[in-house]
Amino acid sequence: MKLKPIVMIVASSLLIPSVFAASDAQRGQQLAMQGDGSGAPCLACHGANGEGNAAGAFPMLAGLDEGYLFRTMKAYQDGTRVNPVMSMNIDNFKEQDLLDLAAYFSQLSVPKPSAPSATTELLEAGEKLATLGNWDAYIPPCSSCHGPNNQGVDENFPRIAGQHASYIEQQLKAWQQGQRTSDPVQLMEAIAKRLSDEQIKAVAAYLASQPAQ
Ligand code: HEC
Ligand code: HEC
Repeated sequence: MKLKPIVMIVASSLLIPSVFAASDAQRGQQLAMQGDGSGAPCLACHGANGEGNAAGAFPMLAGLDEGYLFRTMKAYQDGTRVNPVMSMNIDNFKEQDLLDLAAYFSQLSVPKPSAPSATTELLEAGEKLATLGNWDAYIPPCSSCHGPNNQGVDENFPRIAGQHASYIEQQLKAWQQGQRTSDPVQLMEAIAKRLSDEQIKAVAAYLASQPAQ
């Protein structure tokens, strides 16, 4: 067969771009279903569609910024972000695996938020903090960094609208206790430390009730 080598050359030259492409979402999906060999597959906690799980405080990953996802997965690997439930699921992955996983989760469509389980009063207090801040307590509006409607800006400032309230609360408390140090300039630590328990509850409930775009 004379044609075969030509077909193979054409096929392999078509493959070259994907070898050099930064990321492969389809491969990322496979990795998400398989896991890293020692931990559990991602969907066991983050859901089949990256929707997360409010009861377990497992964050929604669907539609988060690709660069943020990659950066934060690296943070688990290098130990600047430590969580006993999460870190072990990811420690065996290579950099390319993380790029592919980030591509996959960033491309998933975002589920609608579930109905808020909070009083109108609490939601209103949360909205104030998120959109206006509380300058008397040196708390800037969340949206001043997290972007209009807290939809995120780039890999540095993740979307927080539509995220599970349980997870948002947990992260703010992690900063208060100095447990999350993946932010190179620690912008969040200072803010979290100025928030009361009640304010954390309010802002988390409000953000969780907001649609993610
Ligand atoms: C056993 C449950 C579990 C499994 C399995 C799991 N995770 Fe997680 N994941 C968590 C928890 C809990 C957190 C929050 C941890 C924290 O507070 O830092 C988290 C956080 C994350 C975050 C940070 C999200 C954010 O908004 O900052 C990313 C990214 C992530 N996981 C990716 C993955 C990937 C990719 C896999 C599969 C390879 C995976 N996880 C498997 C439980 C899990
Ligand atoms: C001065 C800028 C700034 C302001 C204002 C700010 N944030 Fe952040 N926030 C950040 C940065 C930077 C990160 C990423 C941290 C990292 O990489 O670990 C972040 C991350 C977060 C996360 C983690 C998201 C995730 O997926 O893990 C939550 C939750 C959060 N911020 C809540 C808030 C709330 C609530 C407010 C308002 C009360 C707020 N932020 C105001 C800069 C800011």
